[in-house]
Amino acid sequence: MRDLLASLDGLRERLREIPQADERRLQELKTEILGRKAGVLTDILKALPGLAPEARKAAGGAANALKREFETAIDARERELAHAARRIPGVDLTMPGRPQWRGGLHLVTQVVDEICEIFRELGFTRVVGPEAETERYNFFALNFPRDHPALDAQDSFYLGDDVLLRTHTSPVQIRTLETYRPPVRVVIPGQVYRRDPFDPSHSPVFEQLEGLAVDEGLSFVDFKATLSAFARKFFSADTQVRFRPSFFPFTEPSAEMDVQCQICMGSGCPTCKQTGWMEILGSGMVHPAVLENCGVDSERYTGFAWGMGPHRIAMSRHGIPDIRLFFESDVRFLEQFAGLVR
Ligand code: DAH
Repeated sequence: MRDLLASLDGLRERLREIPQADERRLQELKTEILGRKAGVLTDILKALPGLAPEARKAAGGAANALKREFETAIDARERELAHAARRIPGVDLTMPGRPQWRGGLHLVTQVVDEICEIFRELGFTRVVGPEAETERYNFFALNFPRDHPALDAQDSFYLGDDVLLRTHTSPVQIRTLETYRPPVRVVIPGQVYRRDPFDPSHSPVFEQLEGLAVDEGLSFVDFKATLSAFARKFFSADTQVRFRPSFFPFTEPSAEMDVQCQICMGSGCPTCKQTGWMEILGSGMVHPAVLENCGVDSERYTGFAWGMGPHRIAMSRHGIPDIRLFFESDVRFLEQFAGLVR
């Protein structure tokens, strides 16, 4: 009995080892003292029933109390070690994280890429041209009359007598036909400039996307089929389209294409001004004079062309009410589309 109490005292000494123990040592101590098979304290507890009742009471109380002390100390040390494992000096891992901003493509860039990809599948190559143009490329080779109002400095940004910021992407039609012989199928995205007010539906700089196909035997049917196929792919398979007669100096005949309003699906809403339709592009069969201006035989070749506004298309698809949102770089607006992949 005395021996037993003495060994409990000896064992208590070992409590002091616990706060210094590392992970491995702690597990060793645990097995050595509390292990179910051969733990020193376990053995003592197992021996209790063989003692005389009086001795059993005294030793039992002391042994059980010591067991609890070990358990508490080991548990505390275990928690301490686990916490330390997660700690880097100077860093509080329990603090909420700071968001890491990741760049994303601007919604208009995404729309341009998506349109180009649809036309790539239809056989069109993406090309670009300069933003500063001569009057010949921007107007005259495109069959504009000399007195066309767009030539007026009030409508265009002139950089010099004969040089201006292009007012549309159509001059790249001329550059393309001067560079490549038909058959030609190209899409031409790019920025264009006009002396327009900066208001909800206008901006002095905006994106256009031009298309041009020139080949033997291209007809109005190819033109309508190609653009209808685009609309069904870009909007939805059952999107309705319509063509309205129009006028452009560089096409004959000319047409504007409307698609069913994507916000109300044709029933009428503020976005489509209650018409159920939205205009998405100007287009037509390439005027023979344009082909001849580029040295293309207009008896042998025909073509179709169109120009659309990716800003406008993005606005109607997403119900964006004001074009200025695209230029203001307000992250709260932009981030809504940052991860948009269709
Ligand atoms: N260039 C025209 C504009 O800026 C758009 C356009 C209309 C382009 C008809 C074309 C076309 O290629 O055939 O409004």
